[in-house]
Amino acid sequence: MKQKILVTGGTGYIGSHTVVELQNAGYDVVIVDNLSNSNSDVLDGIEKISGIRPDFKKMDCNDKEGLRVLLQKHPDIKGIIHFAASKAVGESVHKPLLYYRNNIVTLINLLELMPEADIEGIVFSSSCTVYGQPDILPVTEDAPVKPALSPYGNTKQINEEIIRDTIYAGAPFKSIVLRYFNPIGAHPSGEIGELPNGVPQNLVPFLTQTAMGIRKELSVFGDDYNTPDGSCMRDYINVVDLAKAHVIAMNRMLQNKSKEKLEIFNLGTGRGVSVLELITAFEKGTGVKVPHKIVGRREGDIEKVWANPEHANKVLGWTAKESVENTLISAWNWQKKLREKGIQ
Ligand code: UD1
Repeated sequence: MKQKILVTGGTGYIGSHTVVELQNAGYDVVIVDNLSNSNSDVLDGIEKISGIRPDFKKMDCNDKEGLRVLLQKHPDIKGIIHFAASKAVGESVHKPLLYYRNNIVTLINLLELMPEADIEGIVFSSSCTVYGQPDILPVTEDAPVKPALSPYGNTKQINEEIIRDTIYAGAPFKSIVLRYFNPIGAHPSGEIGELPNGVPQNLVPFLTQTAMGIRKELSVFGDDYNTPDGSCMRDYINVVDLAKAHVIAMNRMLQNKSKEKLEIFNLGTGRGVSVLELITAFEKGTGVKVPHKIVGRREGDIEKVWANPEHANKVLGWTAKESVENTLISAWNWQKKLREKGIQ
């Protein structure tokens, strides 16, 4: 019999790509999403790619009773992948309580419900933001967690601590915490991708919208950093590669492949790419120019961070495969698809 997985935030950017990979791997999926930063058309995209329409319930994970009823309706759910969260760094500074409620109360609800629903494991979406500006690059999982620069970053740190304390207190389930570096790109089919509300805050959606002419020009935030070309460097990881890591993590927990009840993995390529290099790679890959100008630094930005992904490579047997150039082409194809559909 197929095993069933609950994916919270499953119509979102990383969530939707993960649902496709879970279904491709033979899992049944139930999505819970409040659609605050996505819409139910995403289900059509998922169905087109995988041939299966996942079970979907519009619900906020703050609704503990609603979650309890859902889990009672699906007693065969064996694992949870918890994506549902608010993720705009700037907004979190102005609305901290919204972030603490959305990102922390929701996790507590799930952890409290897991034992009564006999759920064996939870994969949690964390972020390289927990490292702040690391002292040593590439950064390994043992690097110290630095004081968070925003309420958003703090919620990721607190969530990791909540999971750790709950597991160490003897909770009857396992957890794998995945620290993402910078996920970019879209599914190669062009059926699903990133769809930010309003003006994008992240680099790649802003870049593709500029290339499309929706935005006049891309601002490069600073060229006076201590990097080869002066712009910030990040580890940009293909979203489908990232999604596949979640399936491997889920298999690992459900098949008891590890004795550890809690494991933490960096998910990145191991390569730092600057903002200016990324623009050049986009222009080379797509043949489309991106008007851009250098402006001042963005407050709170980290100068450079990239992963040491060896732990995930060796222990999970997972490696990021797609090149940055192909990934940027996938982001561009998605942007063109949005234009065809008249969405952007
Ligand atoms: C940020 C968060 C990260 C979070 C992610 C998702 C921090 C330190 N990092 O990542 O935790 O998971 O957002 O929302 O808070 N840039 C430009 N021009 C733009 C936009 C971005 O030059 O218009 C540059 C930034 O300065 C940065 C790079 O592009 O160097 C990537 O920025 P972005 O996509 O926003 O991601 P992060 O800031 O790395």
